[in-house]
Amino acid sequence: MRVGLFQFDPSFGQRDRNVEHVLKGLAGAQAELVVLPELFDTGYQFTSKEEAYELAEEIPEGTTSMGLADLCRDRRMFIVAGMAERVGAKTFNSAALFGPDGHIGTYRKTHLFYEEKLWFEPGDTGFKVFDIGSAKLGLMVCFDWIFPESVRTLALMGADIICHPSNLVLPYCPDAMVYRCLENRVFAITCNRTGFEERGGKERLTFIGKSEIVSPKGKILERASEVEDALIIVDIDPLQARDKQLNQYNDLLGDRRPEMYL
Ligand code: ACM
Repeated sequence: MRVGLFQFDPSFGQRDRNVEHVLKGLAGAQAELVVLPELFDTGYQFTSKEEAYELAEEIPEGTTSMGLADLCRDRRMFIVAGMAERVGAKTFNSAALFGPDGHIGTYRKTHLFYEEKLWFEPGDTGFKVFDIGSAKLGLMVCFDWIFPESVRTLALMGADIICHPSNLVLPYCPDAMVYRCLENRVFAITCNRTGFEERGGKERLTFIGKSEIVSPKGKILERASEVEDALIIVDIDPLQARDKQLNQYNDLLGDRRPEMYL
């Protein structure tokens, strides 16, 4: 299975430009699955709840959704995209999965980071795994990584590949995902953004790039630079994620003892 990610520097509030950039960037991509950054079409640093709501869209009725759905239909591919989602009067920081037949499902970010708590509602979907035939995709968004329960939950739900749209500002995640993969024997595609935002007199947020694809044995198959746009595509066998047997005595999920945990 050929899987990939598209790291770039979205322009705040420029939906058409950001979507166009992705459509062009993926036009020649030979991949069955591509992950995009968190909030890839709106940008990240909102200055009010109203602004986030205005820039968000309904999934799958909105224009970003329609653009991605068209691309997936034309190219017979799957895309996981981080997007601001409008639901009634609420705004969520979401990851949506599109495929050749259109929108498949949406996950709403469980663990909001920093000022996201001012603009977004905490996710209400719970973690989600979608079976696309060649693999089971588990969705989470950026800061979910710092809670080991996120990947563990997705692994217990049967995910082979963690699809992880991100806007990372702290330096730790790319290295931490190696251990998330190792301890759960899953693949992970973390797609971060580059560039910075400094809006409304707030502090500058510099995004760290370093998007990566990690194997179930914790090998970094590819990692992007901190600053460059990057379309990374690798060949993987997602079924490797179904073998949780560490040795003849230890099974990574089977050996868990939940009754001993808080
Ligand atoms: C983050 O969750 N965007 C750091």
